[in-house]
Amino acid sequence: MHMRVQIAILAGDGIGPEVIAEALRVLRVIAEFSNIEFRFAEYPFGAAAWKRTGVPLPSATLEACLHADAVLLGAVGAPECDGLPREQRPETGLLALRSRLGGYANLRPAIAYDAIAAGSPLKASVVSGADLLVVRELLGGLYFGEPRGIAPDGSSAFNTMCYSVEQVERIARVAFREAARRRKKVTSVDKANVLETSRLWRQVVSRVGQDFPEVTLDHMYVDACAMQLVTDPRRFDVILTENLFGDILSDEAAVIAGSLGMLASASIGGKVGLYEPVHGSAPDIAGRGIANPLGAIASAAMMLRYTAGLEQEASDIESAIRRALEAGYRTADLARGSVAKVVSTIEMGAAVECELAGILDRRCSYHAV
Ligand code: IPM
Ligand code: MN
Repeated sequence: MHMRVQIAILAGDGIGPEVIAEALRVLRVIAEFSNIEFRFAEYPFGAAAWKRTGVPLPSATLEACLHADAVLLGAVGAPECDGLPREQRPETGLLALRSRLGGYANLRPAIAYDAIAAGSPLKASVVSGADLLVVRELLGGLYFGEPRGIAPDGSSAFNTMCYSVEQVERIARVAFREAARRRKKVTSVDKANVLETSRLWRQVVSRVGQDFPEVTLDHMYVDACAMQLVTDPRRFDVILTENLFGDILSDEAAVIAGSLGMLASASIGGKVGLYEPVHGSAPDIAGRGIANPLGAIASAAMMLRYTAGLEQEASDIESAIRRALEAGYRTADLARGSVAKVVSTIEMGAAVECELAGILDRRCSYHAV
């Protein structure tokens, strides 16, 4: 069966275009070995769009994304935009895009691959075997709450944290569904000893949990979770949490994976799935060809899984990533200790491409006999 997937590419700023190029390279291998056709179309976004049009999310870009099957995004942000008014900042464009696409469930897996556990900034004995999924609520909480602002005289500023029962329910369902396919454990993270939003969160999550008797639920305060993540990461399977807590904890979880450059994400549940590596635009290393493309490549795998329903192809890409690491390939961010092959962005992409072609080739010839 011929399948066509229309993908809007928003490479964005900094290292975004460099890592996206490697994700596309890997998707092209999938296309070559299957009857899946990818249609890629690129659109300006972020600081790159702001420079050309004065806004970070031009309406033509948004329209194209809304009409695509999926959006694959690199990174946004540039130092020269730091002083801009909020509406013009690249980050605001990203938040507007997320909210218009509607994906309220942001899935951020963090896996301590055996091959790199030894080079982890944490002790290998602590991280080895850790494999967790942060399910971050993406469209509520402090990021979007109104009222917000700065007093006219600049003497104070305020944001609003607000969650509705419906918002908590729908993200909780995603977390339990994901856990049911994994090790069947949800840890819901909040600050219910202080915040009303967290008390509501806890109540609603507990209620939703009753619909998933095969999944164990526990609750943890966010400060305790922050500590447990680096002292005992293996205790976690799915971490379910609100927007800002999830933002912070997912960067922390990146340490388990060895580097922020490893982390992928999917934002699902809305009209169009949005797939982006967790890392930012990293202006300090942009243009040097040394960025880690694995987060972007793994995001493309998540796109195949969640948007296209191509579970086999998604896990083939993930196996290829694992094998490239086992073969000793490391981008600079992963090169701690004694490492055989410190490679460029392109070389890492090529290593994954090569491993993937090997996997697919073996499967094709197996089917042929
Ligand atoms: C992330 C980023 C974004 C966020 C920024 C760039 C708005 O840190 O995807 O984690 O805070 O959600
Ligand atoms: Mn973040």
